[in-house]
Amino acid sequence: MSERGTFYITTPIYYPSDKLHIGHTYCTVATDTIARYKRMCGYDVMFLTGTDEHGQKIEEKAKEAGVTPQEFVDRIVEGEGGILDLWKLMNISNDRFIRTTDGYHVEAVQRIFKKMYDNGDIYKGKYSGMYCTPCESFWTESQLVDGKCPDCGREVKYAEEEAYFFRLSKYAEPVRELLLSGTFLEPASRVNEMIKNFIDPGLEDLCVSRTSFKWGIPVDFDPGHVVYVWVDALFNYMTALGYMNGERDGLEKYWPADVHMVGKEIVRFHSIIWPAMLMSVGEPLPKKVFGHGWLLLGGGKMSKSKGNVVDPYILAGRFGVDALRYFLMREFPLGSDGNFSNELLISRINSDLANDYGNLLSRTVAMVEKYFNGTLPTERAGADSDCELNTMAGELRGKYEKLMDSFQTQAALEEVFKVISRANKYIDETAPWVLAKDAANTPRLASVMYNLLETLRICTQLLTPFMPESTVKAADQIGVPAQLRTWEAAGNWGSLPADVTVHRGDTLFPRIDMDKELAELEKLEEEARREALPPVELEPQLAEKVDFDTFCKSDFRVVKVKSCEAVKKSDKLLKFTLDDGTGVDRQILSGIHKWYQPEELVGKTLVAIVNLPPRKMMGLESNGMLISAVHKEKGEEVLHLIMVDDSIPAGAKLC
Ligand code: ME8
Ligand code: MG
Repeated sequence: MSERGTFYITTPIYYPSDKLHIGHTYCTVATDTIARYKRMCGYDVMFLTGTDEHGQKIEEKAKEAGVTPQEFVDRIVEGEGGILDLWKLMNISNDRFIRTTDGYHVEAVQRIFKKMYDNGDIYKGKYSGMYCTPCESFWTESQLVDGKCPDCGREVKYAEEEAYFFRLSKYAEPVRELLLSGTFLEPASRVNEMIKNFIDPGLEDLCVSRTSFKWGIPVDFDPGHVVYVWVDALFNYMTALGYMNGERDGLEKYWPADVHMVGKEIVRFHSIIWPAMLMSVGEPLPKKVFGHGWLLLGGGKMSKSKGNVVDPYILAGRFGVDALRYFLMREFPLGSDGNFSNELLISRINSDLANDYGNLLSRTVAMVEKYFNGTLPTERAGADSDCELNTMAGELRGKYEKLMDSFQTQAALEEVFKVISRANKYIDETAPWVLAKDAANTPRLASVMYNLLETLRICTQLLTPFMPESTVKAADQIGVPAQLRTWEAAGNWGSLPADVTVHRGDTLFPRIDMDKELAELEKLEEEARREALPPVELEPQLAEKVDFDTFCKSDFRVVKVKSCEAVKKSDKLLKFTLDDGTGVDRQILSGIHKWYQPEELVGKTLVAIVNLPPRKMMGLESNGMLISAVHKEKGEEVLHLIMVDDSIPAGAKLC
């Protein structure tokens, strides 16, 4: 075991009901950043994430897609572009991944449910109330907002069924104490929210089984009941470490968890229901629940149903994974909500990464190459003006540590970037290009370069949890020896060898042309939107009214196809000879060859409008128009001639 001890950190397990969006990425990147930070500090870290695969919503989605629920979740979790792929892309360093459909988890949850039943905390009763299907949540009337789900604002429906209940009410006081004690729930503002909204009004027992659908963990001693998805889901944090199963291990080593990172809308489940259930089964409580805020788009939480999903694949592809990770952690504090827009993202990348950090690195390395052929001489000459920079960089790790330990990732980055800005200013103050003009200044110039490289080394090390790939490249350029790429060395100013050799490399964060990029992104997102379109696209209905008399002036008749042939030299037109009931053949030309072969239409009973003025096409006269239905499929127009019952005589009027 490591000197610093263990650190167990989790993300929520995600619903594989849709592809994940940038909001989900936010949550996982935040957790990954902290996990990487703790590893860097020397902790033995266990970082768990996974997927929460049961429940009515998944069952319904699978049905819509015409596949089994298992097939449905398999595709979203393991399929191409799925959740596992996304975490790989985003460089997520989770040690384990749990799927709640994993056999060991299913069996463990059955044992846990039985244990709570046996100890009297689960009993059979009858549930009636309001249920939000997308959120898998029951609500009391008083919790509804304008009669709708208080979490997602969608319709709830009345549900009534025989069900098992968990005696949540019994744990109201111990949970209140827990919430009020120390730092179990952070940020502290969430504590009041929980007490005021849930504990004070009186905790009701929680319905923990359902009978109205199948896709869940069966209650093994009462067929027909499946375990409420949140009971199933919350215990993932322990079953993944072997709780109530022999397949996984690590419970003794890692439990209780050091922190569950969760979005603010699920703080209730993690800070009230979860500890109550743990008290019931007699297991130690997690040390902390941290409720982070939402990444907002145009003022609202992202969700597919609002049609404003931002695709992390597109963004990471354009700007690089590290730039995206950096933005997510830099733009606003972890406990608050913050806005996402392409513009904010690009200007953040340009100002911090291209201008400040990237520029400092490339300027410094370029100067060391230019003035010293890449390797610093060891003779030095310091000056008072070095003090401020060297002190700031030397003290950085201490400030950073305090902020990171309290999940203030944004503030920690701010501290790093204060030092980076100071270093850029130091270049202007010391004007190395002036020093380089006089060989007598060589020791002084070497000192300036060394101070810059040291500052870069320390900042780069502390940026590692945020940008794991670019910082390795930066350290390579600076010439940091492997043994100095450590937390330890980040606290020691002056670690870099005096005769350090730099290695010029590619620009890590190229400047982005805002206008060009925004236009490009809009195009890509439009394409993605189109691909996500429902397969069938319909013309919107016309708002403008037509008066009845005008409508009646159109003379629609049933017609029979006597013969039909393709018009020569036209790849679109078919020429119809029609019986319209008058005894005189009617000729109509119609541009539908793309959809029909002439021979298949002979003998069909169709509908035509017969009082249009005659029109000439390819030298032939068309008297009227055949009526068809049109729609689009995946952007392609599809046409169907309207065919009516053959028993209707030619000439019958449509009205
Ligand atoms: O809640 N900004 O799963 P989930 C920030 N299965 N975070 C966001 C976000 C946004 N726009 N959108 C989603 C569940 N998230 C349960 C968890 S845990 C035992 C079970 C976050 O896929 C959200 O806040 O709906 C939550 O923390 C996580 O993504 C998973 O959401
Ligand atoms: Mg959710």
